[in-house]
Amino acid sequence: MALRPIVKYPVPSLKEVAKPVTEFGPELEALVADMAETMYAAPGVGLAAPQIGIPLRLCVIDVSPKEQPRNLIVLANPEITKAEGEQVDEEGCLSVREYFADVKRFERIWVKAQDLQGNPLEFMAEGFYARVIQHELDHLRGTLFIDHLSSLKRSLYKKKLKKLLQEEEEEQQEQR
Ligand code: NI
Repeated sequence: MALRPIVKYPVPSLKEVAKPVTEFGPELEALVADMAETMYAAPGVGLAAPQIGIPLRLCVIDVSPKEQPRNLIVLANPEITKAEGEQVDEEGCLSVREYFADVKRFERIWVKAQDLQGNPLEFMAEGFYARVIQHELDHLRGTLFIDHLSSLKRSLYKKKLKKLLQEEEEEQQEQR
């Protein structure tokens, strides 16, 4: 297992549409192990393959409360087949530096996917779990949570990010 670097906005690959997972086996298992390790280390509650530069329809999720045993969920080729209701809550993303904002999502979703072995999965999710799945599915079609915001909020974030990146650059130059 290894930690993988997380790709961060505005890297263009985050905007790409991921491709279906077609091969299940040791290679996919190794990739998922790396994704899980990277997600837990961040720490985060979800990570999609495009976030480590792998353009596959694959994500890992763990929404189990702290102090509880880990409960890793692996979704390959996930899709939402039905959705209802509405919830608004604050979201952040491991690929979006230092920013959180309210995002509207479905309250309840029905999901079709495959597990790590390629077996079909079908289940209903609601509340926070449903929110995380919708966030990760967005990554698989090249969408970030900031794409759901008003253009005003998004441009404010872009300004903030520009400043952050400048500061990072200056720090790196001082270290040289
Ligand atoms: Ni994210």
